[in-house]
Amino acid sequence: MDIDRAKTGIKRFDDIIDGGIPKGNTVLVSGGPGTGKTLFGWQFLYNGAKEYGEPGIFITMEERPNDLRKNLSEFGWNIRKLEDDGLIAIIDAASPKIGLPSRERYVEERPFDIDSLMYKVHTVANEIDAKRLVVDSIPALGFKLDDTQIRDSIYKLNALLLEIGCTSILTSEKMDPGVSSNFKIAEYIAHGLINLELVRKVNELKRSGVVVKMRGTNHSMKIFPFEITDKGIVLLAGELY
Ligand SMILES: Nc1ncnc2c1ncn2[C@@H]1O[C@H](COP(=O)(O)OP(=O)(O)OP(=O)(O)O)[C@@H](O)[C@H]1O
Ligand SMILES: [Mg+2]
Repeated sequence: MDIDRAKTGIKRFDDIIDGGIPKGNTVLVSGGPGTGKTLFGWQFLYNGAKEYGEPGIFITMEERPNDLRKNLSEFGWNIRKLEDDGLIAIIDAASPKIGLPSRERYVEERPFDIDSLMYKVHTVANEIDAKRLVVDSIPALGFKLDDTQIRDSIYKLNALLLEIGCTSILTSEKMDPGVSSNFKIAEYIAHGLINLELVRKVNELKRSGVVVKMRGTNHSMKIFPFEITDKGIVLLAGELY
């Protein structure tokens, strides 16, 4: 039976997962620094708003909204316009965390209180009728929390995502096998897991990714090479280099 899918709009990537992320699923995008996690989330959100009529929320825990808007304008993406049109909402959970004032429309005043953040997400999701959501990043969510609180926060977040029914992307730093991490439960809770990597080839680093799991759909497990160009993430034709 055909299932409803949320296309990422990232060419060739949607083919890898048989057409798109099954709607309502949560996908964890994991990788080391600079591997393209934030961009992947944004591309999913931008294309959703622009191409597929699906409004989306971006919860930023690391970068301030104005920095994001500026960086994304490099790809020709006018985020402000989509915000004005009610197709994108950015929740600023970054500024308060680093003690800077924010003039954003949606600011999380108490960044370490998961309940208040969840409440805000709920409100904004209703306001713009959100169908997509990105949390960047999960480890930043647990900043200053103890282990039990981290687990608690991830379970709460998961419950919220299931309730609001958005197709969601969570980003996370790479979790090495064998390393005990409370964030690792996110890998098990998520319906999908995508790993992004920078791999050394001769004298340069090349980008690649792999879909480790994607519940509810067939998917390739081939490692896919990609580049970040002035159009964002672009999968390269052909097999592994
Ligand atoms: N306009 C651009 N053109 C080409 N490449 C770019 C452009 N902007 C950013 N990049 C590349 O994208 C990388 C950053 O991607 P992104 O911020 O999504 O990574 P990340 O995995 O979220 O990193 P972090 O772990 O630091 O949050 C940069 O290091 C750079 O290599
Ligand atoms: Mg990032």
